Amino acid sequence: MSDRPAHIFPSRADPTIDRRSLAPGPVRRPAAPVPSRMIRLIDVHKDFGTKRVLSGFSLDVVEGETMVIIGYSGTGKSVAIKHIVGLLEPDAGQVFVDDLEVPRLPRRELYELRRRIGYVFQFAALFDSLSIGDNVAMALRKQRVDESEIARRVQEALELVDLPDVSERFPAELSGGMRKRVGIARAIVGRPKYILYDEPTTGLDPVTSAVIDQLMMRMQQQLGMTSIVITHDMRSAYTVGTRIAMLYNGRVRRVGTVDEIRHTDDPVVRQFIEGRATLDQTELGAEPA
Ligand SMILES: Nc1ncnc2c1ncn2[C@@H]1O[C@H](COP(=O)(O)OP(=O)(O)OP(=O)(O)O)[C@@H](O)[C@H]1O
Ligand SMILES: [Mg+2]
Repeated sequence: MSDRPAHIFPSRADPTIDRRSLAPGPVRRPAAPVPSRMIRLIDVHKDFGTKRVLSGFSLDVVEGETMVIIGYSGTGKSVAIKHIVGLLEPDAGQVFVDDLEVPRLPRRELYELRRRIGYVFQFAALFDSLSIGDNVAMALRKQRVDESEIARRVQEALELVDLPDVSERFPAELSGGMRKRVGIARAIVGRPKYILYDEPTTGLDPVTSAVIDQLMMRMQQQLGMTSIVITHDMRSAYTVGTRIAMLYNGRVRRVGTVDEIRHTDDPVVRQFIEGRATLDQTELGAEPA
C-alpha cells in the first residue's frame, strides 16, 4: 500500500495507479476513465537555512480541476507552487508534471515544460518600462514566434481578460485589478495546459475580485485548463474551486471538495475558513458544522 495519507487522493481514484505510473519501464494504463494526475507533489521537504517551510507536503492535481490552496501567510503556499515550475528544488521528495520529474529535468526540457504552465505571480510582476502589449508578448518573443502571430495572440489574450484596448499603455497607467488581469493575459498567451495563480484577488475590492473569479472560471471552462489557485479569499475559493487543500505546518492538513472543506469538522481548517470569511459564508448560506 502507499505510505502516503489516503486523503490526498480523490476518493474515486484507484490508489494503485500512482504506484504504477512511478515505476520504471512501460506503464499499463487502465481502461477505466480514471482522471490522470497531472501535477503531483510527493512528500516534499523544503528548508531555508534553519527555517523549515515544507515538511511532507503532498498534493495531486487532476486534469481539468481547479485546486485551491489556502493557508496562513508565510506557511509556504508560494514556495510549494514554485516547485512545480522548477523555480525551487525540494530538499527531499518528488515533484511531477505530466509524469516528468521536474527537479531532474535538463535545463532545455525544463524550459519546454514551463511553456505548458502559465504562472500568475503574486505581485503581478509587470515590467514598468514595457508597454502592456510587450509585457504580454515577452514569452512568445523568447520562443521566436513570428511577429504577426505574436500581435494576434497578444490581442486575443487581452480580449480574453476583457482588456482589448490597453496594448499601447504602460503598467503605471492601469489600476491594480487591471494589472492582475494583464498578469493573467501574460500567463495564458502561450496557451498553456496549466495555470498557477498566486493570490489573484488579494488587495482587490469585492467587485473586481468577482471579475477575476469569473475570468479564472472562463479559463477552466473555455480553454480546459487545469489550475491551481492560491488564495486567502474564501469567497473566491468557494467560487472557483473544484477542491480545496489547506497547507498547515508544512504539509496538507486537509484536502477535499468545496463542500467537504466547508463542512469539515477539522478545528484547524474551521478556524481558518471562519476567521477569514464569516460574512462570506453567511452570504453563501453555509450551515454551521
Ligand atoms: N527564496 C527564499 N529564501 C529564503 N526564504 C524564503 C524564500 N522564499 C520563501 N521564503 C520563506 O518561506 C516562508 C514561506 O514563504 P511563502 O512565500 O511561500 O509563504 P506564503 O504561504 O505564500 O505566504 P503569503 O500568503 O504571505 O504569500 C516564509 O517564511 C518566507 O520568508
Ligand atoms: Mg505567497
